[in-house]
Amino acid sequence: MGFKVAVVGATGNVGREMLEILAERAFPADEVVPLASRKSQGVEVSFGDKILKTRALDHCDFSDIDICLMSAGSAVSKEWSPRIAAQGAVVIDNSSCWRYDADVPLVVPEVNADALAHFRKRGIIANPNCSTAQLALVLKPLHDRAKVRRVVVATYQSVSGAGKEAMDELFSQTKAVYTAGEIASKKFPKRIAFNLIPQIDSFMEDGFTREEWKMVVETKKIVDPKIKLVATCVRVPVFIGHSEAVNIEFEEPITADEARDILRRAPGVLVIDKHEAGGYVTPYECAGEDATYVSRVREDATVENGLALWCVSDNLRKGAALNAVQIAECLIARKLISAKKRAA
Ligand SMILES: NC(=O)c1ccc[n+]([C@@H]2O[C@H](COP(=O)([O-])OP(=O)(O)OC[C@H]3O[C@@H](n4cnc5c(N)ncnc54)[C@H](OP(=O)(O)O)[C@@H]3O)[C@@H](O)[C@H]2O)c1
Repeated sequence: MGFKVAVVGATGNVGREMLEILAERAFPADEVVPLASRKSQGVEVSFGDKILKTRALDHCDFSDIDICLMSAGSAVSKEWSPRIAAQGAVVIDNSSCWRYDADVPLVVPEVNADALAHFRKRGIIANPNCSTAQLALVLKPLHDRAKVRRVVVATYQSVSGAGKEAMDELFSQTKAVYTAGEIASKKFPKRIAFNLIPQIDSFMEDGFTREEWKMVVETKKIVDPKIKLVATCVRVPVFIGHSEAVNIEFEEPITADEARDILRRAPGVLVIDKHEAGGYVTPYECAGEDATYVSRVREDATVENGLALWCVSDNLRKGAALNAVQIAECLIARKLISAKKRAA
């Protein structure tokens, strides 16, 4: 018997991608239920070659659902994830709401799948922030070999990371530049078209943004609490695909060649690193792909045991929807969940 899967936020960027990935990977689902807010009731969404009609979240009975992929923002997750879990569905939550709860595993399956064993405490598993997921994938195999001591990372994050309205804002502002129209900023604090913005999420007391703080705390929870990390998170006028320039200091020596070899063998990572024009991967090329790409691996002579590298990944896939579906697959493969008994 297959699983009954609910996708909350099915009309959004991440939710639509979840539906696509469930179909693409032939996830063992007997039924998929797309859910969103009341205003989207009846809106059609694609699931493989089928068209499904979206239902309203607050009209859904979860007692029959096995897995709920949650992607409707923190406020919805705060209220609904515990209610859904209480009805016996495992919740895989994309928001930041539950990531820092000690009783909620925060998982990138290739890195720390063993943490899933404790998911029953709350019945919720958290998906990391998009920029953390791709970084954790790259850091973990290098950490296993040479122990990461400190990371300095600058991100170049696409507008799809801020939802579908943010993508519309980049589109309409770009059009307005060419047609001499009005450039209105609603989702972003400044114009994003032909610009970049060194602020993602709100400011904290120490001057860092919450996005930067999330990368620190989440990397510690997923990879190793001893890793020191400092981030500068920047929004760039790219539709899909987050990029990161990463400097890593290790406890032990490691060469660029060795790092490339390790990363070539790492699950979920592909290395494209030719020392010629275009011999690296850009966000445009990683959109729609599952892998996190690493390029430009160099030895950093300014510190002891340092490497510098570039990595890009589709934020809607590995940074959100793909990782969530992989968590569900991992729960099934490890026999941590089974389908509820349903009347035939
Ligand atoms: N985008 C990324 O790269 C990324 C990465 C990691 C995590 N996330 C997280 O994933 C979540 C969704 O992001 P997104 O980019 O998909 O946003 P989005 O494109 O703005 O979509 C939001 C979705 O949530 C639904 N929703 C909003 N309020 C609701 C309510 N009260 N009840 C039910 N559904 C409601 C919306 O439904 P309507 O269409 O009916 O309003 C829509 O389907 C956020 O928590 C975000 O932080 C995103």
